[in-house]
Amino acid sequence: MPVRKIKDDVFYVGTIDWDRRLFDELIPLPDGTSYNSYLIIGSEKTALIDATDIAKKDDIIKNLSELGVQKIDYVIAHHAEQDHCGAIPKVLEKFPMSKVLTNAKCKGMLIDHLLIPADKFIEVSDGEKVSLGNKTLEFIFTPWVHWPETMITHLHEGKILFTCDFFGSHLATSDLFVEDKAKVYFSAKRYYAEIMMPFRQTIRKHIERVEKLDIEMIAPSHGPIHGNPSFIIDAYKDWTSDDVKNEVVLAYVSMHGSTEAAIEYFCQRVINKGITLKRYKITSSDIGALAMALVDTATIIVGSPTVHAGAHPAAAYAAFLVNALRPKAKFASIIGSYGWGGKMVEQLASMLPNLKVEIIEPVIAKGFPKEEDFRNIDRLVEDIEKKHRSIGILS
Ligand code: FEO
Repeated sequence: MPVRKIKDDVFYVGTIDWDRRLFDELIPLPDGTSYNSYLIIGSEKTALIDATDIAKKDDIIKNLSELGVQKIDYVIAHHAEQDHCGAIPKVLEKFPMSKVLTNAKCKGMLIDHLLIPADKFIEVSDGEKVSLGNKTLEFIFTPWVHWPETMITHLHEGKILFTCDFFGSHLATSDLFVEDKAKVYFSAKRYYAEIMMPFRQTIRKHIERVEKLDIEMIAPSHGPIHGNPSFIIDAYKDWTSDDVKNEVVLAYVSMHGSTEAAIEYFCQRVINKGITLKRYKITSSDIGALAMALVDTATIIVGSPTVHAGAHPAAAYAAFLVNALRPKAKFASIIGSYGWGGKMVEQLASMLPNLKVEIIEPVIAKGFPKEEDFRNIDRLVEDIEKKHRSIGILS
């Protein structure tokens, strides 16, 4: 991304990774991503906000050279994950008088992960203000968006909130500001689901604090800048609320068609009841799409055959993922099959301790599902229907 002016004395100096398709060797990136950095030039001091992934370290230096930057006084490190601080050592090498401004926890992590010497840091506290001369930066601690050390920065004069991962989206685009709202909403929701959903309650408190700030712009460190902060704040308020939607998310795997036949019947019955169905075959689905579907759903169903005495490993992976993401779903159940016995249901149910869900009686067929099993699926779907009605999401 070429250097671009955002407001007077505030510039975008970040980089775009158009081709990256996997993050943390875990999260699919169908639309690439960007590692946003911002330069703020005050009358006395200059500050760099975040410093891109190490893979783009030469690009950020090039951007700073293009702007003719002679000195950087402060490098603000919001978050110790390498996609935002990987290039800090290179920036410090190029601008040796720079100091890294961050909180004590992030400082420790940067020393651990990037081997930055301890004397290069200035620690800041929650709510502390730092003057750049004619500009003031205020640091606000926002743990768990996405690690425990994360913080954000409010530029008072420009009314810009720099939020790092918070309010961000993995989206490589030439748009500096949000233009395609639907696309950004989708990418931001996916990003929230993948890394922030487990910390929903904490994030609600951060949103309350953000709403009290005088801001005209939210500049995250991934994806385009929000020129209309309420667009993304309102979306986050919805995602982090306790409200669930009239939806069933189904993550399943089948080996020889028995579980698949039960799933197929279940899906038809769910749709017939007027409940939105989101169906993911675990072995071939995008786990980011599954994560995103978990944001709003009222009910989660895991489908699995029995392998030896337990769940299919792919179903166990799905259960592990769901448990780790801690969605706000209220109900869950299991559909599956077995050949000669086993403890697949008990095993999968025990893998969901983080979920505050009511478990609806599962349906497990011996071999291919038979008439009795289909009647049990009817009962399961009727139970889901009743539960959804009981919480007012299905009329
Ligand atoms: Fe964009 Fe948590 O790093």
